[in-house]
Amino acid sequence: MGAQNGNVAIDGFVASGKSTVGRALARRLEYLYLDTGAMYRSVALLALRNGVAVDQESALVDMLEAHKVSVETRDRTQLGYVVLIDAKDVTVRLFDPDVTAAVSAVAALPAIRAALVVRQREIARAGPVVMAGRDIGTVVLPDAPHKFFLTASLDERARRRRLELEERGVEIALDEVRKQIEERDRLDESRVTAPLKRAPDAVLIDSTGIGADTVVERMLAAIRDAA
Ligand code: DC
Repeated sequence: MGAQNGNVAIDGFVASGKSTVGRALARRLEYLYLDTGAMYRSVALLALRNGVAVDQESALVDMLEAHKVSVETRDRTQLGYVVLIDAKDVTVRLFDPDVTAAVSAVAALPAIRAALVVRQREIARAGPVVMAGRDIGTVVLPDAPHKFFLTASLDERARRRRLELEERGVEIALDEVRKQIEERDRLDESRVTAPLKRAPDAVLIDSTGIGADTVVERMLAAIRDAA
């Protein structure tokens, strides 16, 4: 598979398994893995740190230009990558509740999306890459030969997300997680620029009651079938 045409786009709802599955798939294919959500989270973190309001679009763009944000593959870490801001590892901080609460507003801003999409396409050009996000199959890599759209029931996604948070020491009621997920899905689907939606040519996978391994096998089978 050539570097230009092997790219895999994975989009889907909050906690639908994109990261777990994307990372495992990238390993199997020996591709680079890019979690684009981490890029949006980095901007949200920078905004919090610099005291820039999340609706100040041009101030946020200036802020982004003033810092070096990079995502580097690190196979031995839990996520498979680290995010560096000005050469400092901020990965753990990206998943804190304050960053999660701010990220949807940042991700709705067209100028921020435009800046990050340029970087995402650069990474894909150097690929091949498994890229996970919300608009990969529709906007970032509309010509990707392999596209998947992941979903799972709200209850299952809430349980998964709660477990992840628990593992990181964050205690939160299941109902609260469910509400937060619903709200973030609503914001992702309803924003004007690059809303979350399934590309017409994306393979839909509902992972309710299915392990990540099985989802990866299905994806590999779809990729093989398309070859
Ligand atoms: O996948 P995640 O939860 O880490 O993503 C964080 C936020 O970033 C999410 O609320 C939606 C946004 N996002 C986006 O708008 N487009 C992407 N390609 C990836 C994430």
